[in-house]
Amino acid sequence: MTLKNTQTWGGISRSFHWLIVALLIVQGALGLFHDDLPRGTISLHISLGITILALAIARLAWRLYAGRPAAVAGVSVAQQRIAAAGHFVLYVLLFAVPISGWLMSDYGDHAVRWFGLFELPRLVAADDAAHEIMEGRHEQLFWVLVVVAVLHALAAIYHHVFRRNATLMRMWRGS
Ligand code: HEM
Ligand code: HEM
Repeated sequence: MTLKNTQTWGGISRSFHWLIVALLIVQGALGLFHDDLPRGTISLHISLGITILALAIARLAWRLYAGRPAAVAGVSVAQQRIAAAGHFVLYVLLFAVPISGWLMSDYGDHAVRWFGLFELPRLVAADDAAHEIMEGRHEQLFWVLVVVAVLHALAAIYHHVFRRNATLMRMWRGS
């Protein structure tokens, strides 16, 4: 069996997909509730956010190399186009959300460190006004990601429950 996405989603694409879903749930909760969580939660949020960004880069590189399986039989061309547009937007957001966090931290003059091991390069100089704006953007982009991901998940569940086709199962266990 090949790891590439020929007949179905291969193990590498499936692992990336579900690992990133799980990390995003933890990450969203750490961001939203950091005020009520122990001090240091934001450092964990920043380190995890950079990890998600790195995973998104690796995932996209693998996806460009390994391709994608043909749509499941019976899915209309219109549905395939909508799904592809949704996947494209999800990839854009997987980059935009953490990069907006990185910019917010730099504008706020907080160094972005990864689990205390090393410091990431500064993308921009400190700027209070830009920090405020970027804080809003980071949160807005997160909620756009939530909305698109929920629609995407509902589409997958629709295919599984109502159309009874393999769309969800081939991303879940490859068959
Ligand atoms: C995919 C990754 C990420 C997700 C899903 C995410 C999500 C969130 C959410 C939902 C909040 C709460 C927003 C609010 O209620 O104001 C938040 C806050 C925050 N995020 Fe992220 N984030 C991500 C990556 C990052 C990264 C990479 C950094 C920095 C390098 C970062 C820095 C921050 C900071 C500093 C706050 C606190 C803002 C404040 O309330 O002062 N985030 N994030
Ligand atoms: C934040 C959460 C999510 C993100 C960012 C996301 C992202 C993506 C992306 C970018 C793809 C395209 C395939 C690829 O290039 O890897 C994809 C495919 C897929 N996702 Fe998600 N996803 C999320 C949550 C979910 C959930 C919760 C479900 C199921 C309930 C789901 C089910 C699927 C399925 C079945 C496919 C394959 C679609 C096909 O074969 O055309 N995803 N996802």
